[in-house]
Formats: sequence, structure tokens, C-alpha cells
Amino acid sequence: MKKQQDLGLFQTINERHSVRKYDPEATIPEEELTEILEAASKAPSSWNLQHWKFLVVDDPKKKEQLLPIAYNQQQIVDSAAVIAVLGDVQANENAEDVYQGAVDNGFMTEQVRDTLVGQINKAYEGDTPFPRDEAFLNASLASMNLMLAAKAKGYDTCPMGGFQRGAFVKEFNVPERYVPVMLLTVGKAAKPAHQSARFDLEKVVVKNTF
Ligand SMILES: Cc1cc2nc3c(=O)[nH]c(=O)nc-3n(C[C@H](O)[C@H](O)[C@H](O)COP(=O)(O)O)c2cc1C
Repeated sequence: MKKQQDLGLFQTINERHSVRKYDPEATIPEEELTEILEAASKAPSSWNLQHWKFLVVDDPKKKEQLLPIAYNQQQIVDSAAVIAVLGDVQANENAEDVYQGAVDNGFMTEQVRDTLVGQINKAYEGDTPFPRDEAFLNASLASMNLMLAAKAKGYDTCPMGGFQRGAFVKEFNVPERYVPVMLLTVGKAAKPAHQSARFDLEKVVVKNTF
């Protein structure tokens, strides 16, 4: 089969819509899924801590288990894969690994690394909303990258917040370190997305100050 040319950025953005009817026979070749996940993980993140984990659910049995947790939304079982994007509430634990590379390559001294790691660990101390806010914020950026990458490669997606997070954690043995942020269905559209419009810019843009 001839490989589809990837779409350009603006075409991808304009043509992405939430698809809820998928061809249940369609699958995603592993190398394309890998490309899409790699694009997702190129998202920016605070201190480059990469607060995301992608739980790929493509086993039909697992999708059936997920279906009632997601209020029986049919796209869960009809799409080729559901990617549960999880946010890392202990992303400070990644700091050493993130900065070690810079030290090894001579871009950063060990002293600078230790100062940075100390600052990051301090930000995560105490019982504050910060770790959870950061997990949602940064994992959401990766989710958007994922949806656009999938669209550019000829797949459709639907972001889903409509699922029971507690039940999801239990059913999929999600470790305490991670919070489910959203589910992303990925597959081939059987029916186009519902029409959706956006507010005019005058309604959403404020210049300089309120
Ligand atoms: C965080 C989030 C949660 C969403 N949850 C659901 C959902 O549970 N089920 C669903 O069918 N669509 C869901 N959507 C899709 C929205 O309804 C959709 O993005 C919006 O109506 C705009 O349409 P479009 O994505 O087709 O442009 C969600 C979207 C976002 C961003």
C-alpha cells in the first residue's frame, strides 16, 4: 500500500476533530504508533521532567474492560487503540536522569545539576496541588502532540475525559505515582466527526490587560 504523505501543520490542526465512529477492523502498524508516541513525547515540559506515561490499550479484552469505565462510549472498543495518558505526580524523580545527560555531554556542571535537582525537589515538597497541576498541565501538552501527530499520519482521535478515574486506576493497576489525565482513541474514521465551531477571536483574545 502506498504510504500516505504526512499533512502539513495547519492542515492537520484545521482538520483534526473528535471522531467517535471508527472502523473496528482498522489497526495501526506498530511503527506508525511508535512514530506517533515519539511525537507525543517531544512535547515541552516544566524542567523537561516529561510528566507523562502512555498506557496503550489495544487488546480487545482490555478495551472491553475499559468500556463501562468510560460510560460505554463505543469509540473505546471500535478504535484501533486507546492511549491512556497518565500524568506523573512524582516527576521530580526524573530530574537526575534528565540532567545527567547534560552533565555527561559537558553542557552542565555537576554543581549546577545538583542545584537544579534541589530546587525541583523543593517544589514537590509538602502537601500542595503543585504536583497534580504539573502532571495534568504537562501530560495535556503531550496529548495534543499525540492527536496532531496521529492526524498528520492519517488517523483520527477523540480525547476523552469522560471516564471514572478511580475505577480505571484499579482495573489497570496504575501505580500511585500516576494520575489518569485523559483517554485518546486512535483509529480510522468510519464516519466524520460532528461539526464543531470555535468562538471568534474577539471573544477569546485580550490584548495587554483586562
Ligand atoms: C479534556 C477533554 C475531554 C473530552 N471528553 C470527551 C468524552 O468523554 N467523550 C467524547 O465523545 N468527547 C470528549 N471530548 C471531545 C470534545 O467534545 C471535543 O473536543 C469538542 O466538542 C470540540 O470538537 P472537536 O474536537 O471535534 O473539534 C473531550 C475533549 C477534551 C479536550
